[in-house]
Amino acid sequence: MSIHRSLPLFVALSLAIACGGESEAPKPEPTPARTPAPEPVPTPEPTPGPAPTPEPEPVAAGATFPCLPGDAAKGKTAYVTLCATCHGATGDGSGPAGQALDPQPARHDDGGYMNPLSNEHLFTVIAEGGAAAGKSPMMAPWGAALGGDEAVQDVVAFVRTLAKDPDFACE
Ligand code: HEC
Repeated sequence: MSIHRSLPLFVALSLAIACGGESEAPKPEPTPARTPAPEPVPTPEPTPGPAPTPEPEPVAAGATFPCLPGDAAKGKTAYVTLCATCHGATGDGSGPAGQALDPQPARHDDGGYMNPLSNEHLFTVIAEGGAAAGKSPMMAPWGAALGGDEAVQDVVAFVRTLAKDPDFACE
């Protein structure tokens, strides 16, 4: 009885011994080199408050600006066609369509007012309209009608030539 009982165990043991020497115990899978946990990405500081609405930045009265690459002669053609109705052909604000407006169309011949305005500000007002720069929406966006950035630059260059006493200076 005891033999019967222990026989399977004996067989199992001898099998284990017989195989034990020859076949190696299955090697444990090499543990993959542990990739170091990614550094926690530092969360960017929250930007304080909403972006401020663009406003014409104050520039010193005697400031000079980089001269624009615009072609003032081309700009004049567009100005006479599209802008003079309000601003007047010489930029004196005498255009008939501007008379009833409040505020009145800017006087582009007023060097004291116009010269301190930056090239970027004039570009924005003309291309995107007065409302884009904190001015009256009665000054409409003209970028599309003028036909793109280059044409807007031409008009800015021409508007600069209208300023008198003092004339506009760029370098
Ligand atoms: C319907 C009339 C009208 C037409 C046409 C018009 N403008 Fe104006 N424009 C205005 C008015 C009104 C203002 C004054 C806006 C204000 O002071 O808030 C103005 C202001 C401006 C200013 C001054 C912005 C400032 O910072 O004071 C510029 C530059 C200007 N216009 C350029 C142009 C050019 C260039 C054209 C043609 C492509 C043009 N405008 C066509 C009505 C007009």
